[in-house]
Parts: sequence; C-alpha cells; structure tokens
Amino acid sequence: MTMTRALAPNLAIRAVEPSDLPAISALHKAAFGPGRFARTAYRVREGTAETTPHCRAAFLGDRLVAALRMTEVTVAGRPGALLLGPVAVAPDLKGNGYGRALIKSAIDAARGAGKSLVVLVGDVSYYGRFGFASALPNRLSLPGPVDPARILVLELQPESLAGFAGPITASPS
Ligand SMILES: CC(C)(COP(=O)(O)OP(=O)(O)OC[C@H]1O[C@@H](n2cnc3c(N)ncnc32)[C@H](O)[C@@H]1OP(=O)(O)O)[C@@H](O)C(=O)NCCC(=O)NCCS
Repeated sequence: MTMTRALAPNLAIRAVEPSDLPAISALHKAAFGPGRFARTAYRVREGTAETTPHCRAAFLGDRLVAALRMTEVTVAGRPGALLLGPVAVAPDLKGNGYGRALIKSAIDAARGAGKSLVVLVGDVSYYGRFGFASALPNRLSLPGPVDPARILVLELQPESLAGFAGPITASPS
C-alpha cells in the first residue's frame, strides 16, 4: 500500500481499510460530538458503503490521528464527482498541518483516479487554500438545510464544473 509523507514529515497517509473503521468512529465522536449524524455529509452518505477507495486515514506510528471520507456522488444523475466530508483531526493535534496534508493527499488521489469534481460543505476561509470555491449561484443542491454559499467545489480537470448542475445524491453502490 502506498504511503505519503509530504507536508507533515511524521504523518503516514493511506487509503482507509475496514479495520480502521472503529478508530475513525471514535475520532468522529471526539471531533464532532453527538450532533455529527445531522451533518449534511452524513445525510448524503446514508445507506452507502462505510468506506470507498477514495477515503484516507493518517497515522502517527500506530495511532490514527486524522481521517477523511469521500463519497462517490452523482449530480443530476451524472457520475464523476466526490463529496468530501467529514474530515477530522484528533482534537489534541489540531493545527499541526495534518488536516492540510490529508486533504491534499485525498485530492491528488481523486485526480489520479480520474474523478472530475470534489464537492463539500464548508468554510471557504479554510478550503480556499486547496482551490475550492463557491458553487453559487444555486448550481448544486444537497439534501437538508445547507447555506448555498458553503457548497464549495474543486475542479479536478479543466472546466469540469461545466458538466455538473443539479441535485447531489450518493452513487448507487
Ligand atoms: C478543520 C480541521 C480538519 C483542520 O485540520 P488541522 O490539522 O487542525 O488544520 P491544519 O493544521 O492543516 O491547518 C491549520 C490552518 O487552518 C485554519 N483553520 C482550521 N479550521 C478552520 C476553519 N474551520 N475555518 C477557517 N480556517 C480554519 C487554521 O486557522 C490554520 O490556518 P493557518 O495555516 O493560516 O495558520 C480540524 O481542525 C478538525 O478536525 N476540526 C474539527 C472537525 C471539523 O470542523 N471538520 C471540518 C468539517 S467536516
């Protein structure tokens, strides 16, 4: 399995394996608390496989310290997009560049896998550094109450957003 040691020298990043799922659940509980199941990414993912080849986990030694989920989605039925989220870093290790390293690694892997678009719900003040920008005006929609200004997209191929407009739903697995 390929490991990446790029931005954070001691951090090892790899694809998520089923045996990582209990540690990822514990990390989500620590990072998000009890309200986590109401998050939009959880709603879109409902009923999908617990992990995909695009999900990433980061380790310091044997300890899982950060995890990122990517769900394959369709936009108005069109495949080729991924929904990023949640991403979580262990609360005691925030601010060390681990989130950044994990997100960059996942984006590079998604591009390498031939995906066209990454969508997420988040703050442009954080995700703008990776190239994400608002998908306004109302180009994409997600289930549940979402501030449209927080729907952000990253084109993985030149001009790839042009092919995507409409409701986002999980791809059939
Ligand atoms: C958000 C999160 C993934 C970032 O990971 P991290 O490893 O702490 O962040 P990094 O060290 O890579 O980056 C730190 C930078 O991000 C900024 N940042 C962190 N969270 C931010 C936010 N919500 N909005 C804007 N900027 C943010 C920091 O100010 C810092 O900026 P600087 O580089 O200019 O100093 C992590 O803090 C976390 O798990 N938070 C709780 C869960 C969460 O909110 N997840 C995101 C929604 S799914």
